[in-house]
This record gives sequence, structure tokens and C-alpha cells, in this order.
Amino acid sequence: MGMLDNKVAFITGAASGIGAGTAWRFAQEGAKVALCDVMTEQGQALRDELESAGYAALYIDCDVSSPEAVERAVSLTVERFGGLDIVFANAGVNGVWAPIEELQPDEWERTFAINLRGTYLTTHFAVPHLKRTGGGSIIITSSVNGTRTFSTPGASAYSTTKAGQVAFMKMIALELGQHDIRCNAICPGMIHTNISQRTEQRHTDKIGIEVELPKGNPAVDEGEGDVTEVADTCLFLASDLSRHVSGVEIYVDGGASLLR
Ligand SMILES: NC(=O)c1ccc[n+]([C@@H]2O[C@H](COP(=O)([O-])OP(=O)(O)OC[C@H]3O[C@@H](n4cnc5c(N)ncnc54)[C@H](O)[C@@H]3O)[C@@H](O)[C@H]2O)c1
Repeated sequence: MGMLDNKVAFITGAASGIGAGTAWRFAQEGAKVALCDVMTEQGQALRDELESAGYAALYIDCDVSSPEAVERAVSLTVERFGGLDIVFANAGVNGVWAPIEELQPDEWERTFAINLRGTYLTTHFAVPHLKRTGGGSIIITSSVNGTRTFSTPGASAYSTTKAGQVAFMKMIALELGQHDIRCNAICPGMIHTNISQRTEQRHTDKIGIEVELPKGNPAVDEGEGDVTEVADTCLFLASDLSRHVSGVEIYVDGGASLLR
């Protein structure tokens, strides 16, 4: 028996990194997984791999910053799998990291549209279905960055969205507890994914702040993790093991953010 047997999970940013790792973990525990992303080829390939391994998976092209796209993706998931139990609002970008005078309004807004509006839209369109189910678990991917560390000069837009996601998560946990819907956040530290390849760092050296760790790193695995470790934390939050846990952020960083 799996920990998520007969559950349906809706996962954004599922084609790569933490989303893909968590899709595998949830599927291995019996969940049917809806994979949403903008990287069609990668998303479809993941769906095919999951199906070949005997799991139920669906890929949907969905830009989380678009209300129409998210509404459609949630509807398709419910049509195909017959309901919704777990929502993993994980899609996110680092966006542009630059000195504040150089960071352009459209760059600021793009990071907000994906990371923060995307989280709101995913929750907004999923909640009616979770209520119909009679409960559920919403998990939001925030970060240590903007919640416990402020050590990436130039990442002002990114850090602000990650802090905003935690406030949003707490408000939703408060609002939806009476419907047996739990809402929590994970705050990963440095996890090996492709996210940094998709980051635009522009003139951050001009800010003139060099961040150096003190000698000796007390964190587990020096604070560097992989997606399986984040996925296991998400499994805890998605499953009944966390049935009395709502409104919390969990740092998944081996303790590294205690130091910075
Ligand atoms: N990797 C880390 O070290 C780390 C640390 C802290 C937080 N995070 C957070 O983890 C989450 C996942 O990141 P990751 O590290 O797996 O990176 P990743 O780049 O491997 O995966 C992110 C996924 O989100 C998708 N995505 C981007 N824009 C989208 C959009 N508009 N609509 C739908 N999907 C979109 C990408 O195509 C990609 O598949 C992000 O929210 C990120 O901020 C990552």
C-alpha cells in the first residue's frame, strides 16, 4: 500500500528539478500525477517515463502566470482523474538578479507573475475542487532565500516573492483549516537542479557585497541537497503523516541557513 493511494496530485513546474522529483515520489506512493509546465518536450517525456513505469500521469502545458491556463489545467486534471487532493505550487524562476537601479519594471513583474501570482492562481483555481473532495494538502515551494537568508545581493525580486509566498501560505492555512485543507511551504536551500542555468545575473558585482561562509560548515552534507530530499519532505506534507500540520514553513537545507 502506498502513502498516497487513490490521491490526485496537481504539480506545477513539474518538468524539471524539484517538481519532477516530487512527481516521481508521489507516483511511487500511489498518486495520480498531473504535470504542469511550459517545457512541453521535457514534460511529455516525464509523463511517458512515469507511464512506462506503470504510474498514472498527465502532462498539461500551463504557464502559471496565466489565469486561463491554470483554470484549464486544473479542470483537465479533475476531468481525467476524477478529483483533486494534493496541490504542489512549485513553479518558479530566479529571474533577473541585478542592482536595484538596473532591475527593470518588466523584469520585476515577470518574477512576480510566475512566483507569486502563479502561486495565487494555482491555489485559487484548485481550492473549489479540494473543498469538493472534503479536504486536501497544498504545498508551496518558497526558499530559504527571502525567509531566512538574504545573502544573494541583486535577487531582490526573487527574495520578495519567496517571502510573499510564506505570508500567503499562512493566510490560506488560516482560511481553509475549517475545510480540512492544510497549507504549508517548503523552503529549500541549495538543491541540485537546473534553476541557476536559467538565472540572469547582471552586474551583481557592482553591488560590492561578497558573501563568504565562515570556515567550517556545520550543515548536513554542507547544506547541499538533491531533489529526492525535497520530494520526501513534500511526501510528508502531502500525506496523512502531517495531518495536524498546517501553516508552517519547513527548511530543507541541512541546517545551512542557520549560519548565513
Ligand atoms: N534549486 C534550488 O536550489 C532552489 C532553492 C530554493 C527554492 N527553489 C524553488 O524550487 C522551485 C523549483 O525550482 P527548481 O530548482 O526545481 O528549478 P527548475 O528550473 O529545475 O524547475 C522549475 C520548473 O518550473 C517551470 N516553470 C518556469 N516558469 C513557469 C511558468 N510560467 N509556468 C509553469 N512552469 C514554469 C520550469 O519550466 C521548470 O520545469 C522554484 O519555485 C524555486 O524558486 C529552488
